[in-house]
Amino acid sequence: MNPEPRTTAALGKFHAAAQAQPNIALVKYWGKRDVVLNLPTTGSISITLDSLWTRTEVRFVPGQAHDRVSLNGRSDAAETKRVVACLDLLRQRAAVDWGAEVDSRNNFPTAAGLASSASGFAALVRAGAQALDLGLDETELSMLARRCSGSAARSIFGGYVEWARGRLTDGSDSVALPLLPADAWPLRVAVAVTSIAAKQIGSSEGMRHTAQSSPFQASWVATQPADLTTARNAILARDFDALALVSEHSCLKMHALALAAQPGLLYWNGATVECMHCVRTLRRQGVPVFFTIDAGPQLKAVCAPSAIGQVKAALREIPGVLHVLDSGLGAGACVIAIGALEA
Ligand code: PMV
Repeated sequence: MNPEPRTTAALGKFHAAAQAQPNIALVKYWGKRDVVLNLPTTGSISITLDSLWTRTEVRFVPGQAHDRVSLNGRSDAAETKRVVACLDLLRQRAAVDWGAEVDSRNNFPTAAGLASSASGFAALVRAGAQALDLGLDETELSMLARRCSGSAARSIFGGYVEWARGRLTDGSDSVALPLLPADAWPLRVAVAVTSIAAKQIGSSEGMRHTAQSSPFQASWVATQPADLTTARNAILARDFDALALVSEHSCLKMHALALAAQPGLLYWNGATVECMHCVRTLRRQGVPVFFTIDAGPQLKAVCAPSAIGQVKAALREIPGVLHVLDSGLGAGACVIAIGALEA
């Protein structure tokens, strides 16, 4: 269950707030077939979390020329640029040119490999579409979120989610769809935070560099459909061991691909590697747990609910682990306060 969102009295006109949770990919997205539309080279499968969240309030102001963006109480030029590009997509849909006030908060560290862009853009699109009364369904919201940050397409939905590669050049078939609700298989996730520094090479730049220079790019693309099928079947059958094997395989394959770029991309630190050994040791001892790692040094350990205490305790012992967050699986992006739009 998601924590009770802050309740807000009905907001004014063109004003709404939404909450979204990060998602963690089990079969990774790494590579774009279209950088403008943010279309992936391969499909991906993820789980949406519950206790980590982004809450975003958006207010469009008719007559205002500029956007004002506050992320965790601060303004950052690079992030503001991405938010403005996302607001532009919403304004295009509504055929308006109004500036907006955006206030967004995370309850977890931003830009440290915890998919803050996924929850951030899913919440922004959900709130912005509501503020402008666009009347979009979840698939349309997911496609808009995808344009802002690829993995945000998956955070519109809860539980287990697949984002299809699609074939069409306009991206209309590259959509995310729910595979299984969170409560149908309520796994838990422990996040071992090993650094809170912002990552040096963002995912878009890392994907571009990898596709241009890694000798493994073609085999990454060729082997992805089989991984997707294995993971999808494992999820539908609630087969933990099969999901563990394919998820660690996809994670290590993504990092092997990036490591082989020229120059190689190394997202791990020493503690990340120690955490990987720790998870493998626990699993050899019979604990149902596996790891996955994104474009940063944090390790996410996915486990059965009964194992969460033991997994957290083991990860906390590792030198270099700063703290261990823990989350269940949760729902997709939702509106938490809506504007009193006039007819
Ligand atoms: O959506 P982006 O641009 O933040 O890229 C996400 C890339 C990974 O997190 C490494 C993998 C994934 O599928 O989420």
